[in-house]
Amino acid sequence: MGRKIIIFDTTLRDGEQSPGASMNVHEKIAVAKQLEKLGVDVIEAGFAAASPGDLEAIKEISKNVEKPIIASLARAVRKDIEAAAEALKDAKRKRIHTFIATSPIHVEKKLSMSYEAVKEAAVEAVKYARNFCDDVEFSAEDATRSDWDYLCEIFEETIKAGATTINIPDTVGYTTPQEYYELVKYILNKVPNIDKVVVSVHCHDDLGMAVANSLSAVLAGANQVECTINGIGERAGNAALEEIVMALKVRADFYKDCYTDVNTKEIYATSRLVSRLTGIKVPRNKAIVGLNAFAHEAGIHQDGVIKEKSTYEIMKPEDVGIEMSKLVLGKHSGRHGLEERLKELGYTLTKEQLEIIFEEFKKLADKKKEIYDEDLRALIEEKFKLTPQVYELVSLQVVAGSAASPTATIKLVKNGEEFEDAAMGDGPVDATFKALERITYVKGKLKSYDIQALTEGKDAIGEVVVKVFFPDINDTITGRGTSTDIIEASAKAYLDAINKALMKM
Ligand code: KIV
Ligand code: ZN
Repeated sequence: MGRKIIIFDTTLRDGEQSPGASMNVHEKIAVAKQLEKLGVDVIEAGFAAASPGDLEAIKEISKNVEKPIIASLARAVRKDIEAAAEALKDAKRKRIHTFIATSPIHVEKKLSMSYEAVKEAAVEAVKYARNFCDDVEFSAEDATRSDWDYLCEIFEETIKAGATTINIPDTVGYTTPQEYYELVKYILNKVPNIDKVVVSVHCHDDLGMAVANSLSAVLAGANQVECTINGIGERAGNAALEEIVMALKVRADFYKDCYTDVNTKEIYATSRLVSRLTGIKVPRNKAIVGLNAFAHEAGIHQDGVIKEKSTYEIMKPEDVGIEMSKLVLGKHSGRHGLEERLKELGYTLTKEQLEIIFEEFKKLADKKKEIYDEDLRALIEEKFKLTPQVYELVSLQVVAGSAASPTATIKLVKNGEEFEDAAMGDGPVDATFKALERITYVKGKLKSYDIQALTEGKDAIGEVVVKVFFPDINDTITGRGTSTDIIEASAKAYLDAINKALMKM
């Protein structure tokens, strides 16, 4: 039996701090539920004191997710700890994660505190947090640029105060695998009672070493790794969960039989969900979950794989939940075939929901000969949106071309009442967005617009992802839409963003 490594997922806290990655409460619950399915041990659901939205999301996740420990971040101040405790009230298993910076640059320039005062604040925070729950994590922010002996002192005192996990963050992605290994060893050798607590690591990817550093720390003896799905996070991101988990699994021989409780077959679905909801695309060549991760292009490689997969594949796509794009259904497929395939994809629908999807499936099959898994996922997500829809698209008519002034005429429905208007623009997409704004009276500033085909072929479904800044709520929101018609996909994406903005008004 090897050593269990605790997987602490911070996609919903540090990951959500990626520029433009913010999710609403419905989306956060969906991610948390998927993380539970994935089998992570701890979900850091947010930073309760940061905003009422964060607090609400942690509360809802605490009510909706049972197995993992739910954590909230809190600075080493009473009001943050109280907010964390309040947010976690309904969690079956909860953790307060408190932190303060310990490096000279942070202590002197950011906090303007003495080192003694920082230590006292850390101890007080841990003691105070212990009044609300038995599971308290203390993080020494910017640990890797801190004095090692000072770090040991602060960990010794916070353990005495009741911390059950101590975390050694590489906040700015500055360390190297060898140096981090030595730091973890130093702490393990120097700090009294360190064997009574969990030793955790938390790495950022500024120099592209977050995963390597985390794994090096595991070798040194750390038994919790903090990471995010797809490696999203502040600046260059955090250590990628999928890479750490698969490295430990594939190279268990090297990592001295360390193991995690992650169900690796849920990795791909989790990666896709996070990418869709945050609007942050996974690069094609991203390890484990990128589209090319299991594609063999060179003739020699293809030849080798055909003869014996392990010549060029160190893990199977199925191990991470990637089903090699199967042709599933077509025009003549029936309800039963559709239901079975949806079940295989992880969707269990009620009879009514199946009926709705079957209707949509038939309409799609009229436009598109071959229907793939990605098409089915797009249908489900388009039809059963996570966020309640204020307006729905009824129809869209666009006139465009080199000799025409682009004009869009749109009909929307809200609570059974129909609204119609038209607008002209620089192009068909611009005209469409303007018409949507005229009908809904919601004005936004388009920050980014991305389009991609979900499957192969000229008749593929197009997915549009927009990021829109809404001055009325001072927030940037991600909207998504899919359709075989890219202008319609654009309209749905912009309307999705407007609907989410309306929920916040
Ligand atoms: O990077 C960091 O230091 C953090 C801490 C708050 C744990 O995210
Ligand atoms: Zn961080």
